[in-house]
Amino acid sequence: MTENFRSIALTVNGEEVRETVEARTSLVDFLRERLGLTGSHVGCEQGVCGACTVRLNGVTVRGCLVLAVQCAGSRVETIEGVSDSGEIADLQEAFVRRNALQCGFCTPGMLLGAQELLAARERGGDVPSREEIRAHLSGNYCRCTGYQAIVDAVESVARARLSSPSPSSGRAGVGSFPRQELAARAPTLPSPASGGGKEECSP
Ligand code: FES
Ligand code: FES
Repeated sequence: MTENFRSIALTVNGEEVRETVEARTSLVDFLRERLGLTGSHVGCEQGVCGACTVRLNGVTVRGCLVLAVQCAGSRVETIEGVSDSGEIADLQEAFVRRNALQCGFCTPGMLLGAQELLAARERGGDVPSREEIRAHLSGNYCRCTGYQAIVDAVESVARARLSSPSPSSGRAGVGSFPRQELAARAPTLPSPASGGGKEECSP
């Protein structure tokens, strides 16, 4: 092993992973290319579009701005993990019901960002405003759906969760949604054009 490679151990979607990676490998490239978790997409590769969003120790991060070696000893969760657990099944169903996705390139990042906001607000016992939803998702670019439908979907789930919380999560069962439809749709689309389609989510 050369000095440009490191051995790392981390937890990905609840499973322990041990790999040797090049020091310059980003977390999203590691997830996609080494582990085959292609639900996290690569768009701008400079922290702007949000397509690569994953959770690192419970907090959403840009997978393109974090090196895999920095995640040694950490807990990483991807769209595949939260889909399989059923944690976001209601959000996924709302995105479909409200037509909040078309190509799906941005959708994994949108879902993880939305879940972060809704989970925090559930703990506080209230519902975020549409302006708060827009602000929280303002770092996630969507080029083809339009943000109105995305905000509609997130808002509807926020209200539904508050009105009928379940003992554990309030989400539908994992078996009720085909996760690959949202997790990995269109993984090879080109990067979003700079600034395109952003106006509706500007804070
Ligand atoms: Fe990471 Fe765009 S690919 S923010
Ligand atoms: Fe958002 Fe296509 S659905 S970029």
